[in-house]
Amino acid sequence: MSLPAKQNTIHIEQLRKSYNEHGAGDIHYIIKDVNLVIKGGEFFVLLGPSGCGKSTLLNMIAGFVSKSGGNLKVDDVEVQRPGSDRAVVFQQADSSLFPWLTVRENVEFGLRMKKTPKAERREISDRYIRLVGLSGHEAKFPKELSGGMKQRVQLARVLANDPAILLMDEPFGALDAMTRRTMQKELVNIWRETHKTVIFVTHDIQEALLLGERIGIMSVGPSSNITDIYDNTLPYPRDVAAPEFYSLYNRIQAHFEEE
Ligand SMILES: Nc1ncnc2c1ncn2[C@@H]1O[C@H](COP(=O)(O)OP(=O)(O)O)[C@@H](O)[C@H]1O
Ligand SMILES: [Mg+2]
Repeated sequence: MSLPAKQNTIHIEQLRKSYNEHGAGDIHYIIKDVNLVIKGGEFFVLLGPSGCGKSTLLNMIAGFVSKSGGNLKVDDVEVQRPGSDRAVVFQQADSSLFPWLTVRENVEFGLRMKKTPKAERREISDRYIRLVGLSGHEAKFPKELSGGMKQRVQLARVLANDPAILLMDEPFGALDAMTRRTMQKELVNIWRETHKTVIFVTHDIQEALLLGERIGIMSVGPSSNITDIYDNTLPYPRDVAAPEFYSLYNRIQAHFEEE
């Protein structure tokens, strides 16, 4: 008998988060009544202004932040804690890399914890170090790397653990424009190669349009919500100079100006 295949679809229903639900006075919701289904293998972007609750929602999906109400499931399993099916790439690599480990040791860390045999670890780390363009830098320590390189190490490490769901919280926000563009292209290639479910948080409309198949717009908080979802069916790699790109950009821009 075989188990049903995992779809890695995320089901969110009437999801809420408050940090004062047990205190006195009115309940103040950060996010309120979010409804969303993110299909397995989809590249979904969560776009919204700073402070609206994007990280809160992403961290709830990751299992780091508990919900105050509603439902949050991966397939039919309620999210209650972090799991190896989900991994987060944060904005700052500094807080997630181990400074005393080399690039290779950082990338292999999760595999070592899982007791993956050495030869296999090596093969996997080689693959992802190459994929993020860090071949030749395996023996360096984080302090010897630029911000963009550290971010690549973080991405390679997450990918080496092979999570089905990749949660990315403004991962390229701190990078210079050129490195950022390269990383965006690489991420699209990785996603197309691995068929992971990706949820990517950003406040940058252009980045959202370069990456996502669907773009969920979060309203300004408090009690923020996903108010609209834009489909982006433009083929990859996307061209910012294409008229369709520009027109979608303007529609989303107008959306924020109306708020
Ligand atoms: N641990 C916490 N306790 C209380 N309020 C919080 C906590 N974490 C986040 N918030 C509040 O939730 C709101 C949304 O924050 P966040 O999810 O980080 O937004 P974004 O990622 O969109 O910038 C902010 O007003 C923030 O101050
Ligand atoms: Mg945030």
